[in-house]
Amino acid sequence: MARTSLNATLRREAPKDQNPVALTDQNLMNGVHLFAQNCAVCHGSAKGTASLSPIAKGEYPPPPQLATDGVEDDPEGDSFWKIKHGIRLTGMPSFGYSLNDQDIWTLALFLKHMDKLPPAVQQTWLQVQNWPDIAANQVIQK
Ligand code: HEC
Repeated sequence: MARTSLNATLRREAPKDQNPVALTDQNLMNGVHLFAQNCAVCHGSAKGTASLSPIAKGEYPPPPQLATDGVEDDPEGDSFWKIKHGIRLTGMPSFGYSLNDQDIWTLALFLKHMDKLPPAVQQTWLQVQNWPDIAANQVIQK
């Protein structure tokens, strides 16, 4: 039910135009940073399903681990809409209150290209953590 209505909403409301954020290394790098700050805790790191965060493990429905359950085939306008408005009755929040359209398109660009990143961007992506570093937390506790 919810799925049918989401698809209908996407057909009606998701922007059909091209991503206004150009495909450049710098924009992809910005996308990695935005993803690390806002999304990795649920949608995972470059390790994908091999390393779920405690939050990702406990969500229902589960958040797709985008490195392995990618959305590269989805139109960027659909990803833009989902990020901006969230997905009802799931843990997927609306980022329309905290990120501007430029940031959201930058995220959509990264999602579209995350399986074919240029080497410098890939290197940064490999360092993204989906949960605070345990060793660092132990230092804080001492
Ligand atoms: C609190 C957890 C959480 C956070 C944080 C989160 N999401 Fe999600 N997201 C989800 C869940 C859960 C779903 C699956 C919803 C469903 O089953 O329809 C989802 C679905 C999605 C989808 C649709 C995937 C598909 O296969 O259609 C996209 C795209 C997405 N999220 C992008 C993002 C981006 C980008 C961010 C960061 C700006 C983000 N999400 C932050 C939980 C989260």
